[in-house]
Amino acid sequence: MCGIVAYIGPREAYPVLMKGLHRLEYRGYDSAGICLLNGDIRVFKCKGKVSDLEAFVAGENISGNIGMAHTRWATHGEPNTINAHPHFSQNKTIALIHNGIIENYSVLRSELKNRGYTFTSETDTEVLVHLIEDIMTNEQVSVEEAVRIALNQVIGAYAIVILAKEFPNKIIAARKGSPMVIGIGKDEFFVASDATPLIEYTDNVVYLNDEEIAIIERDKELKIKTIRNQDQTPYIEKLVMSLNEIEKGGFDHFMLKEIYEQPRSIFDSMRGRLHLDQGTVTLGGISDYVQKILKAKRIIITACGTSWHAGLVGEYLIEDLARIPVEVEYSSEFRYRNPVLSEDDVVIAISQSGETADTLAAIDLAKSKGATVLGICNVVGSSIARATNAGVYTHAGPEIGVASTKAFTAQVAVLTLLGLLLAQKKGTLPASKFQKILVELDSIPSKVERILKLNEKIRDIATIYKDVKNSLYLGRGYNFPVALEGALKLKEISYIHAEGYPAAEMKHGPIALIDEFMPVVFIATRRGIYDKVITNIEEVKARKGKIIAIVTEGDESVKKLADHCIEIPDTEEMLIPLLATVPLQLLSYHIAVMRNCNVDQPRNLAKSVTVE
Ligand code: F6R
Repeated sequence: MCGIVAYIGPREAYPVLMKGLHRLEYRGYDSAGICLLNGDIRVFKCKGKVSDLEAFVAGENISGNIGMAHTRWATHGEPNTINAHPHFSQNKTIALIHNGIIENYSVLRSELKNRGYTFTSETDTEVLVHLIEDIMTNEQVSVEEAVRIALNQVIGAYAIVILAKEFPNKIIAARKGSPMVIGIGKDEFFVASDATPLIEYTDNVVYLNDEEIAIIERDKELKIKTIRNQDQTPYIEKLVMSLNEIEKGGFDHFMLKEIYEQPRSIFDSMRGRLHLDQGTVTLGGISDYVQKILKAKRIIITACGTSWHAGLVGEYLIEDLARIPVEVEYSSEFRYRNPVLSEDDVVIAISQSGETADTLAAIDLAKSKGATVLGICNVVGSSIARATNAGVYTHAGPEIGVASTKAFTAQVAVLTLLGLLLAQKKGTLPASKFQKILVELDSIPSKVERILKLNEKIRDIATIYKDVKNSLYLGRGYNFPVALEGALKLKEISYIHAEGYPAAEMKHGPIALIDEFMPVVFIATRRGIYDKVITNIEEVKARKGKIIAIVTEGDESVKKLADHCIEIPDTEEMLIPLLATVPLQLLSYHIAVMRNCNVDQPRNLAKSVTVE
């Protein structure tokens, strides 16, 4: 996920672009770059935040009425200056910025290398700009035609902006799968990843559709065509948004925004990996290690906090699907307890930030004992991503709210893919069952969308319980890690004491806590250990506890017992954590807001825990 912004018009482009970049910085801040066209085509870029770029260009000639800028969240290639956008074509006359992932970049890259192109970065993006130059040179076509031809060869997602020295009054922009909005002012145009950079200049906007190319020229009407060369009439809409609404993309908090991003982040984490039509799963990052995992005596998953909860779901998944023994370890314990480890073990470290000190230390320990160490990380180029032998990135996008939400579901999505991949290679699942799970997994993003529509109902429940002092979260099987995660979300952002427990363990102690003031959240979905959970609900009810239940749509049995039911769509048992966690995130969020807590930056916490 990156942020892109471009401008053409009578104003100085630089201040417009910089202000825009600041607004888009939530989309990533690994590096930033700017390109200005003013006779010459000049690019300035550096590793770090937008403020680092501002310091970097201080004293440079930054005048010009046409330009584009980019703030990067690294996916392919380390977050460094070379990999920062804009990227130049070989002859340095075309520059390009990109948000998305070009999935077939390695094929295109080899072809272009064979034709004499030299690549300076490790990004997937650079292939596009060379490809456009190649087409312009060989086919003697305009830049927009070259872009159109190039995009027909591209598989993946993109929002791109292109400037060419030869065309000093023209911006070419295109999108597929990544957002792009064009603002139309008086004699001026703006392009951006969202409307935040253009809101003070115009309220006339065109949202570009997938596979559309915009040809934007000063003093001319906006032209749009598809990559199949069909002209489109621009549909101009009124932007209904105020400045203070948009700082977090229209959400009150990053956490809420990130909860709402989950249909997309789960989809992105599975994109190019789940192949429904072929009935297969691929995980390119660990393809060289699949045999090693299949032969491993056991898998050890190590992580902290929410990532540890994802690891617990991973244990259930991998044992269930691929019949390989899995152990889940808190990194902080593992690193200090002299565990038995050998070369036959595969260790999987899970981390959103990729910087968690305990997890890094656990990796070092595992490596020193000869184990193979793989990573599941969200931040490209992070320490954990570099320290592991290989790994799989979750493509959740930058997670800014300190409480982890979309990173959790992205981790679980990747672990599900891993379980399925191992099952397929090992032949532990009948083909029909495998395909059924694949189809269900593919439908998870749309089912999360449906759950997000329950927001109002969940807020109403939050109103009732916002002042409680304690709470219990109970679940069994796949819903036990969900209970742990639900309790962690509540305690860390609302400061209400919350405990997650396996539902059946309640009678071994926690049941003593239950009275009419104790809310108990049950994850009581129909698949899995359902009847036994109903018995546990009865036990709480008998002691006058208040029951909030996450149930499967259409459930009747739990409804008779619970004070509140939140109905989620039905799915395969092993996929329930991807759905059932979402209403619990919303419940915690609303309770914390009602208690006037700092939701995005809870007290005493930090987004990446780089100390012990
Ligand atoms: C909770 C939370 C933390 C992190 C933990 C590990 O919402 O965010 O518990 O999950 O600090 O962080 P990563 O995943 O970055 O290693």
